[in-house]
Amino acid sequence: MTGMSNPSTGAKSFIVKVQRQSAPGEATRWERFRVPYEANLNVISVLQKIAAMAKTSDGKDTTPVAWDCNCLEEVCGACTMVINGQVRQSCSALVDKLLEDSPGEIELRPMSKFPVVRDLVVDRGRVFNALKRVKAWVGVDDYYDRGPGPKESQDQQETRYPLSECMTCGCCMEACPQYTKVEVKKKAGESEADFEARREAEYSTAFLGAAPISQAILFNEHGTGKMAADDRLEELMAPGGVQVCGNAQNCVAVCPKEIPLTRSIARAGRQVTVYSIKKFFGR
Ligand code: SF4
Ligand code: SF4
Ligand code: FES
Repeated sequence: MTGMSNPSTGAKSFIVKVQRQSAPGEATRWERFRVPYEANLNVISVLQKIAAMAKTSDGKDTTPVAWDCNCLEEVCGACTMVINGQVRQSCSALVDKLLEDSPGEIELRPMSKFPVVRDLVVDRGRVFNALKRVKAWVGVDDYYDRGPGPKESQDQQETRYPLSECMTCGCCMEACPQYTKVEVKKKAGESEADFEARREAEYSTAFLGAAPISQAILFNEHGTGKMAADDRLEELMAPGGVQVCGNAQNCVAVCPKEIPLTRSIARAGRQVTVYSIKKFFGR
């Protein structure tokens, strides 16, 4: 396989430019790596090659680039990064296609809306915190046989199913102008528990983001999940709730699962309005 030429340039190698950061809160720097061309590579396999060489394109030794991945088939969302300026999964980003659009060079950056852990690895903890805020689950936590659950029509199933495909990848938050980065730094001498509590408190009023709003709708429209609908609506109308959305619709344009996020956001807005009117009149 080695010795092949990049069809876009005819060269036997291509450059990968990576934004590096050694630890949370530290300065960033760019490093370039020269990778031998092979057909049918994806960005994860390129990162494996870069880790093995640990040398920049000008021959300097460097530390291996860190990245995250898990499923390698666009299901877990862990490998999400900004590739040639577009937020997407690196496991499904094909090098031949990237080189067609940008011959000779591929640029990799971590998502900008989440704190960097190291290099291309970010902490998406805020998204998981938001899923807890909106109780994104069906609240049956025992082993009693409760018999069959409420029936769901074909229409309901077809409306809810696409929402269940969310993989918490972060693309919709990265693209959203209303979703701004929250990075809480550990203070000198602060215990892990105190730091964690302070970070959770910051997250608890920050904008939920499109994916958690959509998950609130997924469970509010579930036969059993709707038992906790009021709790979800309280969170959707609290600081950082659905009212923060400016309807820019960037989220829906970048979702790799093509989840109808703006539809979910509109439904969330309507449910919140009806709920607050009912609440005002004491129901
Ligand atoms: S529609 Fe709302 S959530 Fe989606 S990108 Fe725009 S502001 Fe963000
Ligand atoms: S809604 Fe789409 S873009 Fe957002 S986290 Fe889920 S899968 Fe990713
Ligand atoms: S490794 Fe799971 S989505 Fe890419």
